[in-house]
Amino acid sequence: MTPILELKGITKRFPGVLANDHIDLSLNKGEILALLGENGAGKSTLMNILYGLYQPDEGEILVNGEKVTINSPTDAINQGIGMVHQHFMLIPVFTVTENVMLGNEAVKQAGLLDRKKAADRILEISNHYNLEVNPDDYSRDLPVGVQQRVEIIKLLYREADILIFDEPTAVLTPQEADELFKIMRSLVKQGKSIIFITHKLREVMDIADRVMVIRSGAMVGETTPAQADKQSLAAMMVGRSVDLEVDRTESKPGELVCSVENLTVADKFQNIVVDDVSLEVYSGEIVGIAGGQGNGQTELVYAITGLQ
Ligand SMILES: Nc1ncnc2c1ncn2[C@@H]1O[C@H](COP(=O)(O)OP(=O)(O)O)[C@@H](O)[C@H]1O
Ligand SMILES: [Mg+2]
Repeated sequence: MTPILELKGITKRFPGVLANDHIDLSLNKGEILALLGENGAGKSTLMNILYGLYQPDEGEILVNGEKVTINSPTDAINQGIGMVHQHFMLIPVFTVTENVMLGNEAVKQAGLLDRKKAADRILEISNHYNLEVNPDDYSRDLPVGVQQRVEIIKLLYREADILIFDEPTAVLTPQEADELFKIMRSLVKQGKSIIFITHKLREVMDIADRVMVIRSGAMVGETTPAQADKQSLAAMMVGRSVDLEVDRTESKPGELVCSVENLTVADKFQNIVVDDVSLEVYSGEIVGIAGGQGNGQTELVYAITGLQ
């Protein structure tokens, strides 16, 4: 079977950096291909080339066996290629419908926007792929997990068949990530094909059908979760064997060095972003603060360090 997508010999140089070094990659219809690599390995560069944001110095791209030229995201979309970026690109003061329509407006006679038609189509997509959203919600009010769903709907609205997710779980809680994985499964079941970019081994083992590993700009290996384990994936990713166990002895905390009592912080819109938080840190210990991005961690740190 012809792969739905093939990259052949893709090379991209930035001043002083060979970001992609003759990369070959193929994606089959209906599969989730994980592209695994450390920070700086060249994953985003490769996907930005595929999405028309960068031009390769060498190499070619084939869609359904035919060579294509992708000079812009519009070209990519016309080839059925869509990308969910690492950082979302929704307009906060627009509704879900307006965000999805943006750049692809349904228009009534006399040039008026047909919001109703767009909203209906969004609900159709949302039901079909189990992507729950309310078309009338403003995107600034949505949790990141839902914003990401809107980004996915935006691609499906443009009839993308090849979906690229660039580190989609970086901004999600583990629960939201599991939710996203269900969505990805449902997408491939219905014939979509996915390139999933990550540097997290657990995610590769959980969701990928096949794994390609990129290191310092070069494709260094290909495997499947059935053939690999976290240890072997980590070794491929960094190029030497790695110890995944942190050697941790029990901590023996000393005196109290930082005490936060009933701290409340408002953001610039006067929303309470840190709400009555208390914590203590003793010398010689590591205190972890867990939470999805955007839940007040930044403001907590700013307040403790006097920046806010
Ligand atoms: N626009 C750019 N200009 C110069 N160097 C870049 C640019 N984009 C990426 N790079 C460099 O290319 C290499 C690969 O980066 P990137 O593709 O972002 O890696 P990854 O997504 O795997 O973390 C890095 O060394 C990075 O610093
Ligand atoms: Mg990246």
